[in-house]
Amino acid sequence: MTSDKPARSAFLPFSRPAIGEEEIKEVVDSLRSGWLTTGPKVLRLEKEFAALTGAKTAVAVTSATAGLHLVLATLDLKPDDEVITTPITWPSTVNNIVICGAKPVFADVDKSTLQIDPADVERRITSKTRAVIPVHFAGAPCDMDALDAICRRHGLLLIEDAAHAAGTSYKGRIVGNGSEAAIFSFHVIKNMTTGEGGMIVCSDENRAARMRRLRFHGISRDAWKRYSKGGSPQYDVEEPGFKYNMMDIQAAIGIHQLKKLDEFNRKRSELALNYQRLLSDIPEIMPLGSATYEHGHAWHLFVVRLELDALKIDRDQFMNALQEENIGTGLHFPAVHLQKYYKERYGYQRGMLPNAEWNGERLFSLPLYPTLREEDQEDVKAALRRIIKKYKQ
Ligand SMILES: Cc1ncc(COP(=O)(O)O)c(C=O)c1O
Repeated sequence: MTSDKPARSAFLPFSRPAIGEEEIKEVVDSLRSGWLTTGPKVLRLEKEFAALTGAKTAVAVTSATAGLHLVLATLDLKPDDEVITTPITWPSTVNNIVICGAKPVFADVDKSTLQIDPADVERRITSKTRAVIPVHFAGAPCDMDALDAICRRHGLLLIEDAAHAAGTSYKGRIVGNGSEAAIFSFHVIKNMTTGEGGMIVCSDENRAARMRRLRFHGISRDAWKRYSKGGSPQYDVEEPGFKYNMMDIQAAIGIHQLKKLDEFNRKRSELALNYQRLLSDIPEIMPLGSATYEHGHAWHLFVVRLELDALKIDRDQFMNALQEENIGTGLHFPAVHLQKYYKERYGYQRGMLPNAEWNGERLFSLPLYPTLREEDQEDVKAALRRIIKKYKQ
């Protein structure tokens, strides 16, 4: 405890979904309709989400993790193949490369924006490289033109991990249609949610058709087509698949979240600018830098780094102290190459990716969601100040 009374009397969560009456009514409508699983609402959400991104088609799934798995499954990777990605990501980006049989290779990130560094991606390309998976980190886009040029030059597939990036734009275009496929997350903390859920957008109809099949056991018909009027219950397994189909109950939430996405993102931007203003006189707290290319930031996360040299405690202790002040935080992300499995299996170690490692020890995310109030942000600032005062070197 930094003093007797915490900065806030009630706990401020790191994230909170913004669910309105529209979502509730739509879910009730699904429940009353007798059709709960994949059906017309999923089809509608797919169509509307594809339209948002400008991609030809969209495939709704149970999570972005499932989406990454499906996309990578369609690459038919071989054990010697390599896929280049960023170490500053949620483990599932990397885990799915391994699960699909290839070797993950990491390129370092920009020290200030935490976006994957295209020049380092190019340095890591070998004759075994098949694909590159950048992450639009925190809701800002990575440098797609540079990555696209590299992938074209070397004949590689570009796949966007757009889990953070619903509504993000790059040089005037919403992200998602500048690659082989892009995967969005609708997990409960994301800019729009379906509770759990995700969406793949894609402009290759053949790949999309295969992903639709693979998301439902690899059989030729999903439940909607088998049990609705005019459907037939017969099926044929074309290749072994998974069980990753989104339910209509989830899509019912997503349809209304999508309508509100611009408004949610506008609110997030306002709050992010307010954090930048509030934190400008606390040198021990360093927000991320902004990319120099033109972009629209969806502000999924407000990530800061700690000036550790000025403090007697480390980042984890600092996050614990914030908990005691009744402020919730998130951790996005410690570098994946230093996680146990990746160190042991591939011999990855400290020193290989200096920018990711430097940031991975210092970063954490402050509360950010549409219903956060400016008074809450003042409480966050007061808590940061109290902890810094107590633990200053
Ligand atoms: C960069 C990134 N990729 C993928 C995922 C996986 O998303 P999901 O929880 O929908 O599986 C996440 C989740 O937070 C993420 O942050």
